[in-house]
Amino acid sequence: MRIAVLGAGGIGGYFGGRLAASGHEVTFVARGAHLEAIREHGLVVTSAAGDFKVEPARVTDDAGAIGAVDAVLLAVKTWQLRPVLETLPALLGPDTAVITTQNGVEAPGQVADVVGRDAVLPGIAKIFAFIDGPGRITHAGGPASLVFDEWAAAPGASSDRVTRLRQAVTTSGAVSPAPDDIWAELWSKMLFVVPFGGLGAALDSTIGELRSTPSRRALLEDAMREVETLARARGIRLPDRVVAGTMAFVDDQPAGATTSLQRDLLEGKPSELDAWTGAVVRLASESGVDAPLHRLLLEVLTSRHPGALLG
Ligand SMILES: NC(=O)c1ccc[n+]([C@@H]2O[C@H](COP(=O)([O-])OP(=O)(O)OC[C@H]3O[C@@H](n4cnc5c(N)ncnc54)[C@H](OP(=O)(O)O)[C@@H]3O)[C@@H](O)[C@H]2O)c1
Repeated sequence: MRIAVLGAGGIGGYFGGRLAASGHEVTFVARGAHLEAIREHGLVVTSAAGDFKVEPARVTDDAGAIGAVDAVLLAVKTWQLRPVLETLPALLGPDTAVITTQNGVEAPGQVADVVGRDAVLPGIAKIFAFIDGPGRITHAGGPASLVFDEWAAAPGASSDRVTRLRQAVTTSGAVSPAPDDIWAELWSKMLFVVPFGGLGAALDSTIGELRSTPSRRALLEDAMREVETLARARGIRLPDRVVAGTMAFVDDQPAGATTSLQRDLLEGKPSELDAWTGAVVRLASESGVDAPLHRLLLEVLTSRHPGALLG
């Protein structure tokens, strides 16, 4: 398959790298020292599931020069999406699929605004991976799964392109299970990551500290319930007892885990605050639902980290 990977970071570098290493024609869009290192030395991936290298790797800083592809893996941060979306039309053929991987629930709609819903496969990456130097990606853990589906997939049915793409991901050495309901999965991930990210950042706490301090644990559950109420108000069919199930998942995570949101805010970097806590507040207001904890978290984090919403 011909695949364009827009953003060769933790997600694009790992999943795109696996696809390239398994024989697909993958072109990475990168920039700066990372681009130069990939061009000169290939893409080097250190992985809990087995190290590999893509050499030579096709890499460019000009997405417009790639031409039409079978699939686009959209793997930039939420605050980096806008200019990248402008490059999408040049990559589209009649059946090109654009897979989103961003945390939060708004990226599929932002992509659809540019290329139409039919081109979009809302997706979720479950992995812990990051750039650890120019040309180098580390996959530190997590299931390394990339879940995606058609925008309005009928339960149990898969389009031909989705079947082909899942097969490509699976044979590359990653995992791509078929979701029952991609929107419920997106919101379920949001229900985990946004309360954890917002409270972790505001309280400067690891997941271990959040879950084992009774008052913080109660706040985490309350914040998850706000996301649950919002999702249900928007017609999302979350699983029954989704908060209890997510807390069980929280209890299973390594005690020292933090989110990229917390780490980025702490380091004064641009962050995904707007697409995480900001989105809960925005969508709650739009849906006539109150989300007071998220409103407070947004206020605290934006006043403590001026510019956090600007990206
Ligand atoms: N990493 C994970 O483990 C993980 C897990 C689940 C979900 N996610 C989600 O996946 C999304 C991507 O995260 P990530 O961790 O893969 O981010 P990342 O490691 O920062 O990778 C993004 C890459 O895209 C590049 N980029 C951005 N705009 C570009 C442009 N216009 N042209 C060329 N390159 C460009 C960045 O380059 P610069 O460094 O030069 O900006 C960076 O190399 C996020 O929404 C995140 O929440 C990540």
